[in-house]
Amino acid sequence: MRISDIANPRQVILVTARWQDTDDIITLAWHMPLSFNPMMYAISLGKKRFSLELIRNSKVFVVNFVSKEFKEDVLFCGEVSGREVDKFKETRFEKEEAETINCSRIKQALGYLECEVVDEIETGDHILFIGKVKKAELKKHGARLFHISGDKLGELEDA
Ligand SMILES: Cc1cc2nc3c(=O)[nH]c(=O)nc-3n(C[C@H](O)[C@H](O)[C@H](O)COP(=O)(O)O)c2cc1C
Repeated sequence: MRISDIANPRQVILVTARWQDTDDIITLAWHMPLSFNPMMYAISLGKKRFSLELIRNSKVFVVNFVSKEFKEDVLFCGEVSGREVDKFKETRFEKEEAETINCSRIKQALGYLECEVVDEIETGDHILFIGKVKKAELKKHGARLFHISGDKLGELEDA
């Protein structure tokens, strides 16, 4: 049994990362708020993820909360690596510039958190990035996507 078989369902989000001229989008189910004041947020990335390399170099990332209508694109970003494809080109997601950090955001996101990395913890086969939130905005409400199990994505209405 895997930890996700017990801990799921979990809300699925997208993290955008940038280093030099490269932008990437990664699908994540492992993430959490850590503090109201200061506003802090954590994300957990497998050691082989391309986006991890970008975040390690840039020390910034954006957490993008998206609605269930983007299910296919969210799955795509969770199945292929930014080493092979430009996920902004291959999905419906459009790039917009973050305002407080040098990073991309997803234009269609319901809301976002612009984060600066303040710490990095090796937990095992994943790395936990602790981010200080520099800007947070909820643009609109919408039903979110949840990771149910394996590669199944479910939808929660009125979330
Ligand atoms: C529903 C779902 C949830 C995922 N959650 C995580 C996660 O929390 N952490 C992680 O490192 N990878 C997670 N993944 C896998 C990555 O999104 C996937 O390996 C991705 O292709 C990595 O992209 P990159 O190499 O461009 O960074 C998830 C995938 C899916 C489909």
